[in-house]
Parts: sequence; C-alpha cells; structure tokens
Amino acid sequence: MAQINPSILSADFARLAEEAKAVQGADWLHVDVMDNHFVPNLTLGVPVVESLARATDTPLDCHLMIEDPDRWAPQYVEAGASSVTFHVEAAAAPVRLAREIRAKGARASMALKPATPIEPFEDLLPELDMLLIMTVEPGFGGQAFLDIMLPKIRRTRELINKHGLQLWLQVDGGVSASTIERCAEAGADVFVAGSAVYGAEDPAEAVRALRAQAEA
Ligand code: DX5
Ligand code: ZN
Repeated sequence: MAQINPSILSADFARLAEEAKAVQGADWLHVDVMDNHFVPNLTLGVPVVESLARATDTPLDCHLMIEDPDRWAPQYVEAGASSVTFHVEAAAAPVRLAREIRAKGARASMALKPATPIEPFEDLLPELDMLLIMTVEPGFGGQAFLDIMLPKIRRTRELINKHGLQLWLQVDGGVSASTIERCAEAGADVFVAGSAVYGAEDPAEAVRALRAQAEA
C-alpha cells in the first residue's frame, strides 16, 4: 500500500491547522524542520510541532534537517510526532538515537542526502522503521526530482528484502504526477509531496491521484 505524506513546507504557515485539514485522506503530514545550519533554510521547531499535533488527527512525520539531532529528535517525539527522521550525516550516534526514538514511542527513521550511499549503513537497517532517500538536495520545496537517485532506491529495496525487513522506504523531493511511478517501480512505498499537493487546486484530490498512480 502506497502512503502519501503531504509536506507542509509548501502550505501557508499562517493557516497550518486548515492546511492540515485540506489533505484529509493523507496517511501522514510531513513536517520539515530546518535550522539554517544543516541546510541553508529555516522553518519551524518544537513549539509549532506541539501545536500542530493538537490541531490534527493526521500523524506527524517530522523530517529533521538539523545539526545535533541526537539532542533534538527525542524532543520532537515528546512534542507529538509519530515518526521522527534524522539525517545520518548529522547524527553522532545513529543507533543510539534510533533506539531512543523508538523507546519514546515513535517510529525511528534515518535520511540520506543524495551523495550519501546506503551500503555503509546496511547493518543499521534493523534499527529503523523507515529509511528516507532524498531525491533533491534538502533545504527547499519545488526542486526538480533527481533521476540519478533511482538506482539507490532500487538497491535499498533489495537490501530491505534481502534482510526480510518491514521498514518503509520513503522518497522526498520532486515527487509529482510525473515522477511518482518511477519511484514506486524502483521500490519506494512512502511518498512525500509538497508542491505537487499544496500547489494543486484541490490538495485532497492531488493526494488521491498520487496514491492511485503509485499503486498502479
Ligand atoms: C526538502 C524537503 C521536502 C520538500 C519537498 O528539503 O525535505 O520535504 O517539502 O517539496 P517538493 O515535493 O515540492 O519537492
Ligand atoms: Zn522533507
């Protein structure tokens, strides 16, 4: 089953509660946390996640594009996130961090920037509930999908299957009607879409259409 996670980075930040309701039927809400250090952009932090968690029944999928996730990720679980993704490039102790996120009751997820290979992290996969393969350089919505990431998605799916793991494989960046089928074919099963959902006339309909394409 394909899961569609609209990214509120492309929503109106002054109307977050309404924007969350505008994508009823979405599996998760993808919340991009940026600190202007790990990426050259700044978005939101723990207090906004706390408020958003109270304002919507849709579970929150927090994508931390920040330095020192070892210190911050557990606070996003406490703020109400049901899934927390940290970047392996920023984590000092990814295994300890994944275990801490799980122990606090959320799904633990690890992200790879486009230039970070999956192979060195094969042994970590059992510690995770989801792996995120970035299909753009993190930092901004609305960028063009990087086709050169498709082989990495394929290799990651093979590793997951080889180890008989249940973890989800998420793609994020440039996912749209024209790229989602290629991602699904390569083995992704969780799809983040910002501009393709919130840039659409009817965001809820865009979610349904993307899901149908991913499952075709
Ligand atoms: C980018 C963020 C993405 C972003 C995707 O660094 O991680 O979640 O919102 O936006 P689109 O779908 O427009 O590429
Ligand atoms: Zn993201």
